[in-house]
Amino acid sequence: MIKNIHSKPVAALILGTVMTVFGTLALAAEDPIVIKFAHVVAENTPKGKMAEKFKALVAEKLGDQVVVEVYPNSQLFGDDKVLEAMLLGDVQMAAPALSKFSRYTDVLALYDLPFLFEDLDAVDRFQQSDEGQTMLLSMQDKGLIGLGYLHNGMKQLSASTPLRVPADADGLKFRIMASDVLEAQFKAVDATPVKKPFSEVFTLLQTKAIDGQENTWSNIYSKKFFEVQPYITESNHGLLDYMVVTSDEFWSGLPDDVREPVKAALDEALAYGNQIARDKAIEDKQKIAESGRCEIIELTPEERAQWVEVMKPVWDEFQEDIGVELIEAAYAANQTD
Ligand code: SIN
Repeated sequence: MIKNIHSKPVAALILGTVMTVFGTLALAAEDPIVIKFAHVVAENTPKGKMAEKFKALVAEKLGDQVVVEVYPNSQLFGDDKVLEAMLLGDVQMAAPALSKFSRYTDVLALYDLPFLFEDLDAVDRFQQSDEGQTMLLSMQDKGLIGLGYLHNGMKQLSASTPLRVPADADGLKFRIMASDVLEAQFKAVDATPVKKPFSEVFTLLQTKAIDGQENTWSNIYSKKFFEVQPYITESNHGLLDYMVVTSDEFWSGLPDDVREPVKAALDEALAYGNQIARDKAIEDKQKIAESGRCEIIELTPEERAQWVEVMKPVWDEFQEDIGVELIEAAYAANQTD
């Protein structure tokens, strides 16, 4: 009798507990942590491939617990909107070009200074230095955290007319990223810079609303700019690199046993993407050359010196905002000894 009186509640209790456990497990299986990773370039680029690698590595390390969703080609947000969206929790990761953070910090404008870095080895040396690493946290007071750098490569100039010396750019309209340094750089050669999102560049070039633009071999190839620009000058005058960012709120809200493997996956994906950037700079230039669609202009040392002479004074305009010591440290990274 006693057994009967008590067996019902005990059975109900066990059943309830079992259901709760299964309910929680079902919920856990249904509700993974989702990391939406938005970017603006094609899949077959250093950033596109890095993002896919990151997704695969997270799946490998964390199974169904964390799902990375990659949105390429400005499908989810363009770079003009993505950081606001991140602070609102609508996207968790992005890797905008370093030129696109000016609303959040002055110091990253460093990377836009023309003729600052001689090559990606110098960029690596600086980014891995204390100064370079500290810059990852330059937007923390605005709620954004830099998780790492990714290369795309050195920028080239493309145009509707051949550009050999700065005077050739006089009066031409160039699309630029949203950066005051890049604006000053084109004004220095008496051109007209126009700040426009990446997603509009092809059409602006095709319709001749603008005369030229600056970008890497990988972006010029993957977005087919070379099909609508008859000349590309191999100027290597500036850098297009990225910072992978997330919101402080999202990042600090992750459990430690999730945040750590996610960061490890990202570090591995960044190393992979950085190698792809180096390879693509060579391969995509080659593909453009083989296409026969445009002429690649190689500058003589004398011609290049003219661009340096006209553009480098732009540094003076921004040295107060960026910091003279930071500029010196970055420039010093060109030296190997
Ligand atoms: C990118 O590489 O993410 C876009 C660069 C640009 O806006 O030109």
